[in-house]
Amino acid sequence: MRQRRHVGLPSPTRREVLGFLALGAAALAVGGCDDMAPAGPVRNVAFKQRLGIPPLAQPRVDASGGWVFDLTARPGQREFVPGKTTETWGINGDYLGPTLRVPRGQQITINVRNRLPEMTTMHWHGAHLPAAADGGPHQPIEPGAAWSPTWQINQPAATLWYHPHPHGNSEMHIYRGLAGMFIIDDEEEAALPLPRTYGVDDIPVIIQDKRFGPDGQLDGSDHTPVGLLGDTILVNGTAGPFFTATTELIRLRLLNASTGRVYNLGFSDGRLFTLIATDGGLLSRPQPTDRVQLAPGERAEIVVRLAAGEKAILHSYRPELGTIPGIRYVSGGLDAFDVLELRARSSLQPSPALPRRLADRFAVDAGSAVVTRTFLLAGHEINGKQMDLERIDEIVTLKTTEIWDVINLDALPHSFHVHGLQFQVAAVDGAQPPPILSGRKDTVFLPPHVPVRLILHFADYADPARPFMYHCHMLFHEDHGMMGQFLVVAPGQQPDLPADVPGDHEHHH
Ligand code: C2O
Ligand code: CU
Ligand code: CU
Repeated sequence: MRQRRHVGLPSPTRREVLGFLALGAAALAVGGCDDMAPAGPVRNVAFKQRLGIPPLAQPRVDASGGWVFDLTARPGQREFVPGKTTETWGINGDYLGPTLRVPRGQQITINVRNRLPEMTTMHWHGAHLPAAADGGPHQPIEPGAAWSPTWQINQPAATLWYHPHPHGNSEMHIYRGLAGMFIIDDEEEAALPLPRTYGVDDIPVIIQDKRFGPDGQLDGSDHTPVGLLGDTILVNGTAGPFFTATTELIRLRLLNASTGRVYNLGFSDGRLFTLIATDGGLLSRPQPTDRVQLAPGERAEIVVRLAAGEKAILHSYRPELGTIPGIRYVSGGLDAFDVLELRARSSLQPSPALPRRLADRFAVDAGSAVVTRTFLLAGHEINGKQMDLERIDEIVTLKTTEIWDVINLDALPHSFHVHGLQFQVAAVDGAQPPPILSGRKDTVFLPPHVPVRLILHFADYADPARPFMYHCHMLFHEDHGMMGQFLVVAPGQQPDLPADVPGDHEHHH
């Protein structure tokens, strides 16, 4: 597979796009160009393949009652496009990995084996855990080696995910197929009348865009300013997927596991559905809506009602990227396409009505914030610095609350993801955030020039030597250095900073 690293353009030729950029600039002057959009580069395909459901990983129980999972990353092959064999990477299989499903309070160990030809890592995105178990770029797993993090699940019911995080290489590792869903259950969620039978009325929906070359191989060579944008949508690794529904209500656990594309999900008939959870768990109450926009790394759980015998098509509308027309075009902002067809049986099992209340309102007390930090995203840098594994950017004190003001100074979209915890989005452009940003979040989309204020409480897991990451989750940007790292230290504890080496290293604070 080619790994050219350049800023290129999507399927229209470069000349077409440059022409369009000029048009876009002209249209901007007369007030927008949405209606002059060309057909999106994503090809609609017929729904002909049954949606693959990743298997649930089956843990062993160790002597002390801990659950032990085995994940092996390895090369594989898959026929995504009929008649063409694609070389892939997968976890315990050819493409993607099994779904981990674990109750809150459970001690787990995950043995991650690397049978790939190169170094990788495995990161538990959205998990609240010690930095040593996080699986970021400081926990490399060499080919042939294994890594076995262990921790106790210590967060509410949520849809998390896992994926590699090797420094500078995350995009291609995920693009080739290394990713999986990680579901956490708890008693509060289990007491609610929600669909929760995996693969029946509780469905993982891992959305990715790919580009296949004429030889059927994954083409990861062409980068737009936001990264790879594919022309073929896969859900759980299935192209043109349909799911046969047997119940009136279906819960979809939506995960944007794409490298750079933003999806604006709804149904093609415009029907309302119910948003029940975001990145880190349930909202306080169900939110009826007709759209859920997800940037790479973000999750949402929705419940949709089906009538017997009907078909409902999950569709991605043009995303709201908040950018100027030319940038919107090259960032996939004019693309609209179908994602998944739900086919309801001619008679459906009744589902109980959704509850009116889901969980306690998530509110981190801003009044107790001791520090305000500012993170400016521009180019492939945060606060004017590219990621340096040897430099600690921020040092946070355990058991404190902080305000992080994050601003995208570019004309391009970015996002901001923080490892190790769930934060609250306190304000977007100084105003109360919309319901989709009201719950526990670990990744937030950053339209250009819109300040986003986060409140973070560092409740657990001090480690004076091992940092957590924060970064743009557009993986092309992350790989190019749009990432930084923070330590969480106990009050009075001295950080164990990397030894100073000649060069441009600097230690903050
Ligand atoms: Cu989804 Cu730093 O990762
Ligand atoms: Cu993460
Ligand atoms: Cu970015």
